[in-house]
Amino acid sequence: MSPIVYLNGKFLPLDQARVPVLDRGFIFGDGVYEVIPVYGGRLFRLAQHLQRLDQSLAGIRLTNPLTHAQWQDVLAELVRCNTDAGNPDQSIYLQITRGAAKRDFGLPKDLQPTVFAMSNPMPAPAAQAAQGVAAITRPDIRWQYCHIKAITLLAANLLRQEALDQGAVEAILIRDGEVTEGAASNVFIVKNNVLITPPTGPKLLPGITRDLIVELAAAHGIACEERTITEQELRDADEVWLTSSTKEILPVTRLDGRPVAQGTPGPMWQRMIALYQDYKRTLRDANV
Ligand code: PDD
Repeated sequence: MSPIVYLNGKFLPLDQARVPVLDRGFIFGDGVYEVIPVYGGRLFRLAQHLQRLDQSLAGIRLTNPLTHAQWQDVLAELVRCNTDAGNPDQSIYLQITRGAAKRDFGLPKDLQPTVFAMSNPMPAPAAQAAQGVAAITRPDIRWQYCHIKAITLLAANLLRQEALDQGAVEAILIRDGEVTEGAASNVFIVKNNVLITPPTGPKLLPGITRDLIVELAAAHGIACEERTITEQELRDADEVWLTSSTKEILPVTRLDGRPVAQGTPGPMWQRMIALYQDYKRTLRDANV
């Protein structure tokens, strides 16, 4: 059976959802997106995701076609449809493009934006996480507005594929000798029991998972610095993690074919993943 998706005000089966070929999302990649986890049928950190969506939209000069309250209703209904179909843990994908117009450069005004949202079952990251994963490093060949969650992801796909070709799960990107982020994740390192992650800004996406980890570290007395990480610091790290809404926190145990420290998930990761899972449980139990 085709899952139910949301498109421009309607809920309908995925195989009936259609957009015009002149949609600027199709022609130019002119749009932004969000990925929001759902645990136990509840949207995780929705307010933060909607706030980042507004920032991405502002970055491409588009107004949010829905209010946050409308988004809440649309996504709750989408989650409900898919929870009834047997998926308590889901990953919501939503996308807004500028809409359909004659192919012209520049940004046409007053188009009807295309608004789409779907839900997929959340992949279970646990087994992969316990053993640690392999990553490679690559030059960050992407554009200069990486804080915008833009749908133009060809560079990220090419980089991720290079990682997959080498039996790794992610490419960690280096710009001017500094770590920015993964192709679709943020990066943390641990050195001498201090957690370090690059500062937010145009070089990377302000990850919702990243921010939660920084928050959890502060709440539990774990030293955490938001500062530049050099390529050498990455290679000398005691631990390296990848974070995202779908990966949660993945320990990298091999980097460019060499072990990270002892080559096993480290004690700080064990501690943080426990805090993260506790936080998820608290939200679920609190019924919020
Ligand atoms: N990607 N950096 C990039 C470039 C990303 O694409 C992502 C997430 C992140 C992590 O952000 P968050 O913690 O908010 O998920 C960082 C999503 C999962 C995706 O494109 O599927």
